[in-house]
Amino acid sequence: MVMAFLGDVVVVLVVALAVQAEAQQSYVNNKQLNCEQSPNTTLGFVCNAAPSCTAYLTFRSTPTYNTPVTIAYLLSANASQIAAANNISDITPLPTDTLLLVPIPCSCSSNYYQHNASYTLKFLGETYFSVANNTYQSLSTCQALMAQNPYDFRRLLPKMTIAVPIRCACPTPSQTAAGFTSLLTYLLRQGEDATSTAAKFAAAGAAVPAIMDANMLNQTSILFYFTPLLVPLKTQPTLQNTNTNTNTNTSPPPQPIPPTNPASSHKWIFIGVGIGAALLVIFSVIALVWLFRRRSHKSPNPLPTEESPPPLSELSQGIRSAVETLSLYKLEELEIATNSFAESNRIAGSSVYRGWFNGDEAVVKVIKEDVSGEINTLRQINHSRIIRLSGFCLHQGTTYLVYEYAHNGSLKDWLHKPHLDWKQRLQIAYDVADALNYLHNFTNPPYIHKNLTTTNILLDSNMRAKLANFGLARALEFDKVTTRHVVGAQGYMAPEYIETGLLTPKLDVFAFGVIMLELLSGREAAAGKLHETIDGVLSGDNVRDKLQGFMDPNLDYPLELAYSKAQLACSCVAHNVDVRPPISEVLLALSALLSSSTDWEDTSLTFTD
Ligand SMILES: *[C@@H]1O[C@H](CO)[C@@H](O)[C@H](O)[C@H]1NC(C)=O
Ligand SMILES: *[C@@H]1O[C@H](CO)[C@@H](O)[C@H](O)[C@H]1NC(C)=O
Ligand SMILES: *[C@@H]1O[C@H](CO)[C@@H](O)[C@H](O)[C@H]1NC(C)=O
Ligand SMILES: *[C@@H]1O[C@H](CO)[C@@H](O)[C@H](O)[C@H]1NC(C)=O
Ligand SMILES: *[C@@H]1O[C@H](CO)[C@@H](O)[C@H](O)[C@H]1NC(C)=O
Ligand SMILES: *[C@@H]1O[C@H](CO)[C@@H](O)[C@H](O)[C@H]1NC(C)=O
Repeated sequence: MVMAFLGDVVVVLVVALAVQAEAQQSYVNNKQLNCEQSPNTTLGFVCNAAPSCTAYLTFRSTPTYNTPVTIAYLLSANASQIAAANNISDITPLPTDTLLLVPIPCSCSSNYYQHNASYTLKFLGETYFSVANNTYQSLSTCQALMAQNPYDFRRLLPKMTIAVPIRCACPTPSQTAAGFTSLLTYLLRQGEDATSTAAKFAAAGAAVPAIMDANMLNQTSILFYFTPLLVPLKTQPTLQNTNTNTNTNTSPPPQPIPPTNPASSHKWIFIGVGIGAALLVIFSVIALVWLFRRRSHKSPNPLPTEESPPPLSELSQGIRSAVETLSLYKLEELEIATNSFAESNRIAGSSVYRGWFNGDEAVVKVIKEDVSGEINTLRQINHSRIIRLSGFCLHQGTTYLVYEYAHNGSLKDWLHKPHLDWKQRLQIAYDVADALNYLHNFTNPPYIHKNLTTTNILLDSNMRAKLANFGLARALEFDKVTTRHVVGAQGYMAPEYIETGLLTPKLDVFAFGVIMLELLSGREAAAGKLHETIDGVLSGDNVRDKLQGFMDPNLDYPLELAYSKAQLACSCVAHNVDVRPPISEVLLALSALLSSSTDWEDTSLTFTD
């Protein structure tokens, strides 16, 4: 019995090996668009021949990657070889969309042929899919990227360097026997098919039957755009790129060659980006639903008597590392803590509820969407003047964030109360500047809060300030970034941000200046156009009178220090972004004001006694 069984296995193995030796590579068939599934074809071309060889890729120049040098950097290739293969100079920028040949070494690594490149993420929002499909023009796949990188797909951040396995292949023995010496990974475009591709590389020996065979295609197969096609070549390929400034004929017309081959008489259907985009959306939705359902299925017993968080391996990597520092709550626990989200526990006008967790008061913020961004931001931020995220819960598409409780609510509620005295106001300003200084200068990457308002400054039981609400905060990798999506609170937004979407830490400095003016005047930013008024107050004649008119009438203050603080605030709301001081300087100035105020307080106490 055993022998017979072994015999069967051997037979099967022999057949499998025989098939593999004969087979060329399977076509990826648009499977690279569905990042959730990773059939073997998406992971790479299977090693079925020589362990290494020289292979070729095509790449179309983009505004960022438009010289052999930059393209070589992206693809880990050799710039002078790219220049030679395309008969162009190393450094002259090419017009966008110039097709270039790129020679690369290709080798076998864990069963798949690949060429190793690496890429450092540059923007928030870059994904494995966007890197594979857009940056690398489908020369890699999201599946291969996920398989070879440790980072969860939802947790990619600027400055992370990821390995990019580029698809390539070496000729099989049957291809070698037919005279082919290398394989080119070519990306089809709309209007192109095997026939036009063969024509494009005819000088290097490309032919339709060999292309079909190399990709295991037959007459009923469907070809897709943005899907790499292997083109067997007999000699080193060349492209005639007449990329001098003149617009002489760019390339031989890629019009379909008359159907001389049986293949071209059949329908070759090309499906474009519509499907890709749809699949991608579906994929993201499925991924989120999957995550949330996983979570909600994990709370079978209604009593939170025993902590039984789901096995960490079931959570995505980013959430998993969050779990290491944060508590993962069950919805039932939050319901018990907040009295089932009772109206009386709600903080007026918000989706924030007070609750008790093991005797500690905390607040639960309910957000009807995925806010992994905010979780991820706060997880990396740890400062005594920044409100602490202590845990979270994901349940049926809603995120519940559990924050430390600030007993005295928001600064906004206190602005008009006369019992916030000069020293307290100064201390609050100092605390906020301290938090901003940490965000701008001591986190990596630096963050900008982007939504600094009196509503987002909370006061603890000692009337010390803590910065809250990081929903709009963003990491800043570059000195100058612009956005088209300008959001923020009226009265606090810096002019350059409103006008051009420019994002710099000076955005927070401006909003901070407005807050200092609110603290001085007791007036609200939105109502008062404070930043426009202050310049007039501090210049011209009668500054003393004008300043006294500007100040909160309920406030007792030392006029000289009030003048200094107003000047500081005025520099923070300067229209010109370069005139605004960095927050580190503001913090120093406030520190000096704070110690002077202590002296003033002591003397004024002496006088009243
Ligand atoms: C994919 O490859 C792995 C090993 O590399 C193999 O075990 C598995 O059977 C393959 N799956 C398919 C569907 O070919
Ligand atoms: C690039 O290729 C050229 C010619 O093949 C070779 O001389 C040079 O050393 C290569 N450069 C690098 C960095 O490998
Ligand atoms: C390379 O380009 C130059 C002009 O820039 C041309 O004279 C030369 O013939 C080209 N060489 C090849 C091999 O096409
Ligand atoms: C490419 O990367 C893979 C995985 O990181 C590694 O196993 C392989 O050795 C690398 N290949 C080369 C040629 O460096
Ligand atoms: C063509 O290839 C597909 C798989 O790609 C296969 O299912 C089909 O049977 C093949 N048709 C013929 C006529 O060989
Ligand atoms: C994939 O890349 C192509 C061009 O390389 C682009 O036209 C297409 O929009 C991209 N697909 C998606 C879903 O972004």
